[in-house]
Amino acid sequence: MNVPIYKYDVVIVGAGLAGCAAAKEASDAGLDVCVLTKLHPLRSHSGAAQGGINAALSSDDSTELHEFDTVKGSDYLGDQDAIKLMCENAPQTIRWAERMGAVFSRNEKGEIDQRPFGGQSSPRACYAKDRTGLTLLQTVYEQAHRGGVQFFDEYYVADIILEDDKIKGVVAFDLVDTKPYIFGAKTVMFATGGYGRAFKINSNAHANTGDALSMVARHGLPLEDMEFVQFHPTGIAGSGVLISEAARGEGGILLNRDGEKFMKKYAPNKLELASRDVVSRAITQEILDGRGCGEHKDHVKIDLTHLGADVIKKKLPELRDLAITFLGQDMIEEPISIAATAHYSMGGVPVDIDGHVRKNNDDFIEGFYAAGECACVSIHGANRLGANSVLEALFFGKHIGLQMIKDIKTIEMGELCEADADTAIDEFEKIRTSSGKYKVPILRDKLQQSMTDNAGVFRTEKSLQKQLNIIKEIKEKFKHVAIDDNSTTYNTDLQEAVEFGHMIDYSTFIVAGAIERKESRGAHFRDEYPQRDDENYLKHTMGYMDKNGDVAIKYMDVVLGKHELAARTY
Ligand code: FUM
Repeated sequence: MNVPIYKYDVVIVGAGLAGCAAAKEASDAGLDVCVLTKLHPLRSHSGAAQGGINAALSSDDSTELHEFDTVKGSDYLGDQDAIKLMCENAPQTIRWAERMGAVFSRNEKGEIDQRPFGGQSSPRACYAKDRTGLTLLQTVYEQAHRGGVQFFDEYYVADIILEDDKIKGVVAFDLVDTKPYIFGAKTVMFATGGYGRAFKINSNAHANTGDALSMVARHGLPLEDMEFVQFHPTGIAGSGVLISEAARGEGGILLNRDGEKFMKKYAPNKLELASRDVVSRAITQEILDGRGCGEHKDHVKIDLTHLGADVIKKKLPELRDLAITFLGQDMIEEPISIAATAHYSMGGVPVDIDGHVRKNNDDFIEGFYAAGECACVSIHGANRLGANSVLEALFFGKHIGLQMIKDIKTIEMGELCEADADTAIDEFEKIRTSSGKYKVPILRDKLQQSMTDNAGVFRTEKSLQKQLNIIKEIKEKFKHVAIDDNSTTYNTDLQEAVEFGHMIDYSTFIVAGAIERKESRGAHFRDEYPQRDDENYLKHTMGYMDKNGDVAIKYMDVVLGKHELAARTY
């Protein structure tokens, strides 16, 4: 098959905040940059971030306090060198975005307004109503585009081209006609988002399929801390669509079926503004104990009625619309129905503080970078604080863009040939022409539902072992799937099948890491081991997948610093 080969200095995969920020920096420095995305850039999942972006701007706050909150929020698993770098650079990241044209909401003094978020010592989340991510994404994308970055919309990246610990480019299919292309580059950066769709109830966009992680893992490279999946406390009941933490930040109160304000039992000081893992467990516990609301007792309520119509319309207009659309409930008139939803992936492709992708604990892949939710720096450790992800994506995207400018001076373009696309072409063709008896939507539903049931907010040895077996069965059946559309014209059936293969692989990492981590830390809660165990598990999980799809677990040290280990209470 004829496979055109394009060459760039920098190829970025993913057009969310991290990808666009890196692309803008690299292109402004005169590099030839392209961004590949399977969507239109403005449909990237960064645009769904509602509530805010953290920066210590006010005189009552400090970057050191931001650092401390982030370390504590991470349950001490976050790497303190990376956290320090991000928090110190947060104020200038906000100014950078603002000078590019991002419009933030203001207070009466005309300053950027900041709202409280969970686990924070000070109101720190700068926001644009409840459309913060979209506002920032529109700005950075526009400026990257204006600066000459070439965007390839609706190209699906299916493989990386690696040789001798060096990346040479990626293989991508044009989704319009399924034609393969090779994009050669001196540096490649992944900014492809997270893997929350492994769970049935999640807040992630349909396209947020986490493929890049298993793509990397299939080349024998590690994935880090994959067992740490954040469940956001306030997903719309039934669908999991996000009701921003801004709802709690602005004063929302959680109620069970008896009308009890139950957070006082779980976080007597911070109440609704405890960190997300604490609030999600509290909500789930209320439901498990039979105090959930509704006919099936499967959700609780968040009450915002006391804020009044003016505040809701001014500060939470998107949330109100979402609740009306998905629940038929107007938060001005009545409490709305919510439950925990898989929201954010703390784990990902392991990188150092400058975004270099790790081959193992000590070595790196030349020319390969990752940033944003698909990467594990690790800022968030075992639990991310709300409004730190938008900051991470924007700051590290920019930072790694600048890093590539430095590194590229000594990186040569690798030799490329059409055969570099063979593995990806074979994978696509095998699925497109397969005549097996299993259907992807049915297998996917089984995988996602069982992940929610067995590897969700609460986990046990038994539930996790059961889940590992379920994944193995599904993996076997996946070898015999058939799709209904065998064409090569905008074949979403084919794309979804390929994406599902990745979901099977990264779900294995989540479960394998969770089985081996016999403690409770941040978002990972094991019923049999309810305490944090620093003696044995103050370390990052490094999972490696073999040719059979089994994942072996090793570990890597956490970068500690001046914030000393302490009990985490809210
Ligand atoms: O709740 C939210 O608005 C989400 C923000 C975040 O995940 O950081």
